[in-house]
Amino acid sequence: MNINEFQQARFGLFVHFGAYAVNGKSEWLKAYQKLTNEQYQTYIDHFQPKENCMEEWAAFAKAAGVKYAVLTTKHHDGFCLFDSQLTHYTTKQTIDRDLVREFVEAFREQGIKIGFYYSLIDWHHDDFPHYGDLQHPRNTAVEEKAKETKRDLDRYLDYMHGQIHELLSNYGEIDMMWYDFSYNNPKDSGLPNMKGETWRATELVKLMHELQPNLIYNNRLGSNGGMLVAEPEIYAGDFTSPEQLIPPTGMMNEKGELVPWEACLTMNESWGYTNTPFGYKRLRTLIHALVDSVSKNGNLLLNVGPDAKGKFPQKAQERLNGIGEWLEKNGESIYGCGAAPFPKPEWGRYTFKEAQNGQPAKLYAHIYERGVGPLPLVGLEGKLRSAKLVADGTLLNMERPWNVSKFPNDAFLNLPWYDTLPDEIDTVIEFELVEGE
Ligand code: GLC
Repeated sequence: MNINEFQQARFGLFVHFGAYAVNGKSEWLKAYQKLTNEQYQTYIDHFQPKENCMEEWAAFAKAAGVKYAVLTTKHHDGFCLFDSQLTHYTTKQTIDRDLVREFVEAFREQGIKIGFYYSLIDWHHDDFPHYGDLQHPRNTAVEEKAKETKRDLDRYLDYMHGQIHELLSNYGEIDMMWYDFSYNNPKDSGLPNMKGETWRATELVKLMHELQPNLIYNNRLGSNGGMLVAEPEIYAGDFTSPEQLIPPTGMMNEKGELVPWEACLTMNESWGYTNTPFGYKRLRTLIHALVDSVSKNGNLLLNVGPDAKGKFPQKAQERLNGIGEWLEKNGESIYGCGAAPFPKPEWGRYTFKEAQNGQPAKLYAHIYERGVGPLPLVGLEGKLRSAKLVADGTLLNMERPWNVSKFPNDAFLNLPWYDTLPDEIDTVIEFELVEGE
């Protein structure tokens, strides 16, 4: 997928799946509890998802209305969900399954584009720095100290590049690589900063483009200044990936150009599966997060952490279904849309679709708050020619209300509902713009 297609798609599903699901706490448990590979092995041994789970996921994803999905092919624990010639530390070896292949096949079948999350960090590989590293599970284990001199980071990088080569060669067309992540090491550690050319990033970008010319990738190879500087490095990425937040005013580089971005967001407090059903964001919050992202020219990558058997948690299922139902009615105000050239309204958000294929430009009013009186559209008097409730296609009366004569520049729409809205989460009204607006 090219970057334009990515920006049309707007909504993706992130799946954090791996042996850490077995601990039911966090994909970071190995680091939090400073576990050795041997101690962590119990999670690897018990990681036995049920057959066909990916088909179930793909059906949920389709119903939720996502256009692309990103799977953790390898997380920081280093355990690979794909068959690799470069290591035995894979599901192919433990349960004789290539979960990445199952994922690709199931999601492709549903017409959903494919993204691979790949952790640059590796807490299993022997040649990845241990002692003194900012976050390695064994970073304070003195017995690791002496071994540091024997580690050869280049050997790890050969492995990492080799695995990316495998991922981009063995599964057909891949739409996106989602790297995670780069960081600076403590100054006194004697270790390099784990970013940019430490990963041999330029070489990696060449490899990616050679194998998959139409592939896009995120910004986490860790360039200096990221994507926002005037002259980003070649490996700066195709889109930025703000985490657990929606940039308040979208994203622009130093030259004032829009920068593609995708907010990644958990539904609860963890990326990997957690067995505490608390802390889930409300459906309302998630739909607003999607609308808010699009209203600022961004995408939303919403995460789910399936349990160890490969089931989406009940609460995640409910939310995905809820978003899907809303999108089924209102998707035209999300897909292919972006920011409107008008200031943010006080009652909700605008999204906007440029004029295309003989269709006029469309402004979508996402009403979160009914308020009182007619709906004000500041500065838009004379620019709107029809109003329609998107959910069911009914036209609304555009007659100018009697009480607004003091506001000649503003448009107003009489809403046919008093203290309610047909959709209390987000009622969407489509306005066709007068040509030339
Ligand atoms: C962080 C975490 C990781 C998660 C990622 C998603 O970098 O280390 O667990 O996969 O964010 O954005």
